[in-house]
Amino acid sequence: MLVAETPLAGSVLPQGATRLVCKSACRRSRSRRQQTRGFLRQQSHLSAWAPESWRQLKAQQQPNYQDEKKLREAVETISRMPPLVFAGECRNLQARLAKCATGEAFLVQGGDCAESFSQFSANRIRDSFRVQLQMAVVAMFGGGVPVVKVGRMAGQFAKPRSADTEILDGRELPSYRGDIINGQEFTLDARVPDPMRLVQAYNQAAATLNLLRGFATGGYAGLQRVMEWNLDFMGKSDEGRAYLDVAKRVDEAIQFMVACGLDSHTAIMTETEYYVSHECLLLDYEQALTREDSTTGLWYDCSGHMLWCGERTRQLDGAHVEFMRGIANPIGVKVSDKMDPGQLVSLIAALNPQNTPGRLTVIIRMGADKVRANLPRLVEAVRNSGQVVTWVCDPMHGNTECVAGYKTRRYERIRAEVEAFFDVHEELGTVPGGIHLEMTGDNVTECLGGGSSILETDLNSRYHTHCDPRLNAEQALEMSFYVASRLAQRKEKMGLGSKPTTILR
Ligand code: PEP
Ligand code: CO
Repeated sequence: MLVAETPLAGSVLPQGATRLVCKSACRRSRSRRQQTRGFLRQQSHLSAWAPESWRQLKAQQQPNYQDEKKLREAVETISRMPPLVFAGECRNLQARLAKCATGEAFLVQGGDCAESFSQFSANRIRDSFRVQLQMAVVAMFGGGVPVVKVGRMAGQFAKPRSADTEILDGRELPSYRGDIINGQEFTLDARVPDPMRLVQAYNQAAATLNLLRGFATGGYAGLQRVMEWNLDFMGKSDEGRAYLDVAKRVDEAIQFMVACGLDSHTAIMTETEYYVSHECLLLDYEQALTREDSTTGLWYDCSGHMLWCGERTRQLDGAHVEFMRGIANPIGVKVSDKMDPGQLVSLIAALNPQNTPGRLTVIIRMGADKVRANLPRLVEAVRNSGQVVTWVCDPMHGNTECVAGYKTRRYERIRAEVEAFFDVHEELGTVPGGIHLEMTGDNVTECLGGGSSILETDLNSRYHTHCDPRLNAEQALEMSFYVASRLAQRKEKMGLGSKPTTILR
């Protein structure tokens, strides 16, 4: 049981049922009473969720706000603001993720490790969105499945940290926890958590989402436009040339379809579906944006379409799991090699008790060397328990290392983790449902290797991340070609449809 038995404020048990337990004193009814108690305990577990019920449990990774009054004001301000996303959109995404669980679609989820206030710009949002769309085209064309596009955007501000404090030149200060909480500069002033940052984060998320909705439906993301987007590196690298080749072939296919009578002005040609997601970490922010859906009576966290629970906050009896089990959004949980199969099955049961397809995405982040040894027993345990989840690979967080004083990742290890993830699912006959990347549309030099061969000596040239190192546009596109080849291989092996198009030379 995840919550205290005592009903919480605003979430009372059915009245009649409570009386049944308290009133009866006769012996004949004792055993019935005991049974009823058991039933009630289950009921209270199911009914006692409220947007604030997480407050009764231990919440890891929360800032220590010094000014309670200021925090209350910030939370009240956000509580009065409009929702950022709508329940119907969340339900649509859940239906798409259910398709990813069965192999009828594939998830490409990506964006910054941490969005920042200082690097907020329309061009950056556009560039990240654009690369993600190009990756989707590559994966769709090469892999022959629809791609579900979800940004780590419009709310990805709070970061879990391995230590509460940071020491630099003998000075100890609170750790940077993301722009929604404190500032990155190494001064005491910047590192004190400031509640007004919640309001700034909300406003930035609203502006980001507004732009993304404009891009997605205003004509910018039309298939013909996506084909015309030619990034700087495209004529110069293998992936760039391969992309231009895909673009040419998709263009020919569109011309053929138009000649057959397809209306090039229909929504599927001019618009795209794009969703946003972030880690559900700062619970004051998430609760303030949690609203009851008037059509279904369910609670949605309207800060983003999809929320995930991080590796450090997924304790079964912790506040984050408690909060997430009650929201009706599609949700995810990050899982490392530390997870035990029984524990995973219990966690899934708590987060998705109705076993609804698309509701829960399990995001594996073990490190390239650990997937083959540790993933099979998790997949088998979940399969044996009959639980439906969407398996996704985050090849970033288990492959971080320190090189020449920079936190970095090697493209080859990132790719090796994706390869191992696909191999394990292929061997077990289960479904690789998607990929979760830290990436940007900028030409940064944060991850080593890849076709463009970023070297150790390049790291200091364009290392801009506010937290973890991201794939640059070229490396992200390179990854999409690899994914496309694996999706095509999977399709061919399973005898699904005709032989897919080969797009890698
Ligand atoms: C993240 O996604 O940025 C993150 C911190 O991941 P994890 O919880 O898997 O470490
Ligand atoms: Co990260």
